[in-house]
Amino acid sequence: MRIKPLTCSIGAELTNVNVADVVRSESLFAEIKALLLKHRVLFFRDQDISRADHVAFARCFGDLEDHPVANTVPGYPGLIEIYKSEKRDHFENTYHSDASWRANPPRAAVLRCISCPDVGGDTIWVNMVEAYNSLPEEIKTKIAGLRAKHGIEHSFGAILATEEREELIRKNPLVDHPVVRTHPETSEKVLYVGPFSTHFINYHSPENVRFGQDKTPGASLLLNYLISQAAIPEYQVRFRWEPNSLAIWDNVATQHYAVSDYWPAPRRMERATVRGDRPF
Ligand SMILES: [Fe+2]
Repeated sequence: MRIKPLTCSIGAELTNVNVADVVRSESLFAEIKALLLKHRVLFFRDQDISRADHVAFARCFGDLEDHPVANTVPGYPGLIEIYKSEKRDHFENTYHSDASWRANPPRAAVLRCISCPDVGGDTIWVNMVEAYNSLPEEIKTKIAGLRAKHGIEHSFGAILATEEREELIRKNPLVDHPVVRTHPETSEKVLYVGPFSTHFINYHSPENVRFGQDKTPGASLLLNYLISQAAIPEYQVRFRWEPNSLAIWDNVATQHYAVSDYWPAPRRMERATVRGDRPF
């Protein structure tokens, strides 16, 4: 196996390795796991594997989960379809950590390209540990201990009829997470807000708010400033897909953005999502 880092911040491409072999080798799995913690996202080309292999590779990292809106590939629980057609149903073109609207958001995800346009449809990943570490010290002090609500409604709910949307909210109520979470394996601090974050739940303290008018610029501008950090290129890697390309990412330490520049060309991806723990 050869390891080629793709940027100074995040991402490495691994060659001379087939992910189907990881399932049968504890030492290879340990090596891949350590590389994932180090590089945050790993890329593999030419993974002409079966769906069962895809699921089995992801299962090495933990139990899998389905998605309340995306379809599951028939016969493969834990593997969801991210199929784009002539419909403009794009949700992934914002910087986000997958399913931060869950009480226990996913730990990792494994995405494989089935088919894609010759050009377009890249994905960008962002190192959110570096995004936190690079914040000005006064911002780090200000956000220590802050918590933010996360919800599914204003993204996936937007295309649903009212009754379906209300059902979606009933099944996926708002949750709150620390704005700065701790990585469960490396103990690194991670900036953990994104487009699913709606508001801070504990900003309204005497130090932050003298009168109600302080709240809007104080809280919403701070939240938007923190969300905007993921767009800084120095923390990013951009990957160009080919059929049978595969990526696995640490969904705690990173955010990603699926560039939606290829419509109306079709693009078919399949994702296995590894369950995570409650953020702390
Ligand atoms: Fe995503």
